[in-house]
Amino acid sequence: AKRSADDLRSPICCILGHVDTGKTKLLDCIRRTNVQEGEAGGITQQIGATYFPRENIIERTKDVRTKVEMKVPGLLVIDTPGHESFTNLRSRGSGLCDIAILVVDIMHGLEPQTIESLNLLKMRHTPFVVALNKVDRLYSWKSCPNAPITNAFEKQSRDVMNEFDRRLNQIITQIKEQGLNSELYYKNPDRRKYVSIVPTSAISGEGVPDLLMLLVTLTQQMMESKLMYISEVQCTVLEVKVVEGLGTTIDVILVNGVLHEGDQIVVCGMQGPIVTTIRALLTPHPMKEIRVKGQYLHHKELKAAQGIKLTAQGLEHAIAGTQLHVVGPDDDLEDIKEEAMED
Ligand code: GTP
Ligand code: MG
Ligand code: NA
Repeated sequence: AKRSADDLRSPICCILGHVDTGKTKLLDCIRRTNVQEGEAGGITQQIGATYFPRENIIERTKDVRTKVEMKVPGLLVIDTPGHESFTNLRSRGSGLCDIAILVVDIMHGLEPQTIESLNLLKMRHTPFVVALNKVDRLYSWKSCPNAPITNAFEKQSRDVMNEFDRRLNQIITQIKEQGLNSELYYKNPDRRKYVSIVPTSAISGEGVPDLLMLLVTLTQQMMESKLMYISEVQCTVLEVKVVEGLGTTIDVILVNGVLHEGDQIVVCGMQGPIVTTIRALLTPHPMKEIRVKGQYLHHKELKAAQGIKLTAQGLEHAIAGTQLHVVGPDDDLEDIKEEAMED
């Protein structure tokens, strides 16, 4: 297959961090949704996925000073739970992504699941940025809704900036104790050697434009060849779910390739390989969370990267976390069944 810089897929970005640092709220801020308030106990318990099209990202980053031309078609963002009991879901999310956002609460610094997440990222050599969230909680912070962070800093008193610097330096030291150098993103001397820190507020939106711009910049500059679209299907099952009116569905992340309605697929099942046919290919609307009940868009085919809900017969015993395989015209079904069960 021909690969080119003119045909990039959307980067996949995973949000990781300790419980209640504001991962879902940051996504709500970008989506202009209220997913977090609908969660039981305010706790995320599943992996989520949201697609941000290029136009929306351009809109949200228009005031950032250091802009780059956006060559990727959009961003696919995976939300993960921070509660300690969901290590498997953090591992699944981090295993899928090209880049990650590690969210740290500026009032708390590094916490146990921050460090656990950091170790997952180090282990897989996944590039990441730190969102230093909840800056609006600094005493007497002056709100500057959705402003780039440097603009918001210019509006703060000396006292606020002193408290910010003190907390930032403590957190840089804590990250150093984990073996990594880090620096505010706009002071970063070398993005390959220092982790970039972006101060944010998920409530008032300061720093969110910077965070989006940084993700686009880093993915385009550091992993262009990894993002060149290839036709070979790479697809992971995130969740197996019964949906009213649809029956058993699976939520998948299509990392590369295309899926079509009618494709014959093989998924790993609890009682052996499941061979079935894609009946419907569904996505939520752009900027909507796949794990939230809502309207689905129907597609004849979908190209990576995308979060997709698909329906097919016999998915009841599919196993989350395994690979979905497509049976092509030249493929041997028995080989693929064997491959599917190796997960
Ligand atoms: P889990 O998914 O359960 O790990 O939590 P999370 O990291 O997704 O955090 P969540 O979005 O659930 O936010 C936790 C709490 O912090 C909620 O009450 C949010 O309203 C609050 N919160 C999140 N971000 C901010 C922020 O930037 N500023 C302030 N003041 N509160 C925030
Ligand atoms: Mg959450
Ligand atoms: Na939470």
